[in-house]
Amino acid sequence: MPGPEALAFDMYGTLVDPIGIQKELESFLPEGASSVSASWRQKQLEYTFRLTAMERYEDFEQVTRRALGYALAAAGKELEAGQKDTLMQRYNDLERFPDVVPGLERLKEAGHAMIVFSNGTPRMLEALMDAAELRPYFQRFVSVDEVGIYKPSPKVYQHAAQRLGRSIGEVRLISSNPFDDIGAEAAGMRAAWVDRSGGLFDTLGPPPEIVVGTLTELADALEAE
Ligand code: LAC
Repeated sequence: MPGPEALAFDMYGTLVDPIGIQKELESFLPEGASSVSASWRQKQLEYTFRLTAMERYEDFEQVTRRALGYALAAAGKELEAGQKDTLMQRYNDLERFPDVVPGLERLKEAGHAMIVFSNGTPRMLEALMDAAELRPYFQRFVSVDEVGIYKPSPKVYQHAAQRLGRSIGEVRLISSNPFDDIGAEAAGMRAAWVDRSGGLFDTLGPPPEIVVGTLTELADALEAE
């Protein structure tokens, strides 16, 4: 039998669905909500990468708000301040993917040490862990805000390993975001890709040794390791 591992789970896109906010957007924007929510997420990540390259830091809440402003402007749309506040609140109440609870139940049962490890601010993660009822499965969350740098800087993966009390090679990142998997491996972590995008991985590096479609498949894969 393989032993329990130390697993660090990405939040947005892996445990909860940031694109699901489209439903809320549709109530304000009957047309174009789908492209605005996709470009909102894309710009949010781009800003984190750029801030890291510039050696600057603004927290994920500010970045998310700025990215929403861009996504709306790019689509030629406007929202009232109160509507933007509502969207930001909804960001802390995103829907869990349906495989998350059954998968986490099995992973917890198998004795893995599990944390959430995310770009989200502590405030955002506190709210999301409660809203999505994730607390029972995780020892804690680790926010990159503790380091003031974003993924995929190696510093944040090193920090997550430190917070788990493990060496970096003993930790496995679980992420649906290819940039995150590649970043973790570049820093010396192992990784598993939760493919929620129909097989499209980045071409900046090969997919990790474990590729699964759901967290229940992840539990199977770790049992078979
Ligand atoms: C996170 C983003 C990268 O949760 O999805 O860190």
